[in-house]
Amino acid sequence: MLGIIGAMDEEISQIAELMTDVEETTIAEMTFKKGTIGGKEVVAVRSGIGKVNAAMCTQILATYFHVDSVINTGVAGSLRNEINIGDIVISTDALQHDMDATGFGYELGVIPRMKVSTFVADDRLAKLAKEACIEANLGIGVHCGRVVSGDQFITDKATKQRLIDNFDGYCTEMEGAAIAQAAYLNGIPFLVIRAISDKADDSANMDYSEFERHAIDNSVALMKILIANI
Ligand code: ADE
Repeated sequence: MLGIIGAMDEEISQIAELMTDVEETTIAEMTFKKGTIGGKEVVAVRSGIGKVNAAMCTQILATYFHVDSVINTGVAGSLRNEINIGDIVISTDALQHDMDATGFGYELGVIPRMKVSTFVADDRLAKLAKEACIEANLGIGVHCGRVVSGDQFITDKATKQRLIDNFDGYCTEMEGAAIAQAAYLNGIPFLVIRAISDKADDSANMDYSEFERHAIDNSVALMKILIANI
């Protein structure tokens, strides 16, 4: 069973439209839509925004739905000049930029007393996602790199620069690394796929409103192909 976590209702409902025999279960105010797509068992859910929602959602997928992999889709702010609005970022790994135990002598982003703080995405899923991007032929850039997550919508240059300097991220969003950590703790492979909606700078607010739709369309087009190929 493949778990798909989306940040947006529109995205999850478009994936659910492809399913047959849909069964809905609501747990912790999240509605899990289970069904089959092309003979594959899939459960798609909108987690809600932020790391707590995302981690809870992943744990429910593991405990109740016994998923064997998790894909997180959604939108993100770009952290690199060459990554434009509409482009796709496929995670190589994910970390939490707002994990800060520096006062205890840990490096920024390091989770105290855990062996791992930077969670490595599944190679096979990443390869399939790259192939799906080529097949989708959306005429956009596809980039593979680090996703940095935190409970912050980044809308200023200084914070953006701090994320770049400290973490060398490709994009920033609010769920991916929490999903990655929960997947890691359950021994489940994961992948984050994000379409860029803004540049995480002073124009992020305006760009987000304008380009959210376009970014979602790109990620849904890609997901449809990816699910068929998994
Ligand atoms: N998701 C989309 N754009 C974002 C941004 N600028 N910061 C955090 N999450 C985002």
